[in-house]
Amino acid sequence: MKILGIETSCDETAAAVVEDGVSILSNQIASQVEIHARYGGIVPEVASRQHILAIIPIVEQAMAEAETTWSDLAGIAVTIGPGLAGSLLVGVNVAKAIASARGLPLTGVNHLEGHIYANWLISPNTEEGIDLIPRFPLVSLIVSGGHSDLVLMRGHGDYVLLGRTRDDAAGEAFDKASRTLGLGYPGGPAIEQAARNGTPAIQLPRAWLKGTNDFSFSGVKTALLRLVESGQISSAADAAASFQEAVIEVLVTKTVEVARERRVRQILLAGGVASNELLRQWLVKSSPIPVLVPELVLCTDNAAMIAACGYYRFQGGKVDGLGLDVIPSLKLA
Ligand code: KG4
Ligand code: ZN
Repeated sequence: MKILGIETSCDETAAAVVEDGVSILSNQIASQVEIHARYGGIVPEVASRQHILAIIPIVEQAMAEAETTWSDLAGIAVTIGPGLAGSLLVGVNVAKAIASARGLPLTGVNHLEGHIYANWLISPNTEEGIDLIPRFPLVSLIVSGGHSDLVLMRGHGDYVLLGRTRDDAAGEAFDKASRTLGLGYPGGPAIEQAARNGTPAIQLPRAWLKGTNDFSFSGVKTALLRLVESGQISSAADAAASFQEAVIEVLVTKTVEVARERRVRQILLAGGVASNELLRQWLVKSSPIPVLVPELVLCTDNAAMIAACGYYRFQGGKVDGLGLDVIPSLKLA
């Protein structure tokens, strides 16, 4: 069963064809990162205009790479939220147009759910994927530019929100810290790169929020800003390493804690920040529960994860009509 996935929630225009929810036949991404980098962040109006320019070629490339015809497809999955309204609209309208023209079933996918489903995609680098299939119940840590959520997943499409950030998302904190240190945009990869040449020698606060599964990253962000403003930072590399460690220590500790408490079988890492090597290694090392992490390219925004999620939605009979609309503030649970 081949599903075409379409993703335009933020600044990547993406299309992919995935078979049976696990095998990637194609995964095309047109990134706008260079266009937004000159503004130091995403400009929504610019993003939606770029999606309009890129979407048709990207869908055509995904179909061609997968050597798939419209009649080979079993359905179309498209991100409906959360995300930027103008950006989401481009993907949703293209998906509806194709579904209508080709008589294909359509399903609307929650972007965060998509990030979790990146863990179902078989990585070509892993041995057969035998022991790497997600098993319920599981806890997923979703860390992206807009979210830091801890979610209990008891079955396909069954989510319980256990914790969330009370202020900045982890990715957002990385982006802001990077700006503070003059390391550029997007901040996550810039901080990670700079941290490689530094040591985490600078003391920064951790918000443990004991007794809750919630996160808070505005304190560590502001602490870093104060140190920079008062001229106390002599090495951006050390500052980057210290900041990275402060954020990741909290993410890892709280994730392992809640996964043990809930006696789950697995921990799944998801979202753009999941591509951070320290986070991946630290979590795997410190968790007594098996941890699954998507391949790097599947952590940041892509359409293969949307197609994978769409496959399981179709399996569960979740088909949407052509009245499907965007929901910019869509929640997972
Ligand atoms: O999931 P994603 O691609 O888009 C959203 O749904 O938001 O996540 C983007 C976020 C950005 O804030 C970016 O700085 C962060 O993920 N990120 C990273 C890394 N790569 C991307 N954060 C830390 N380390 C990285 N290597
Ligand atoms: Zn995302």
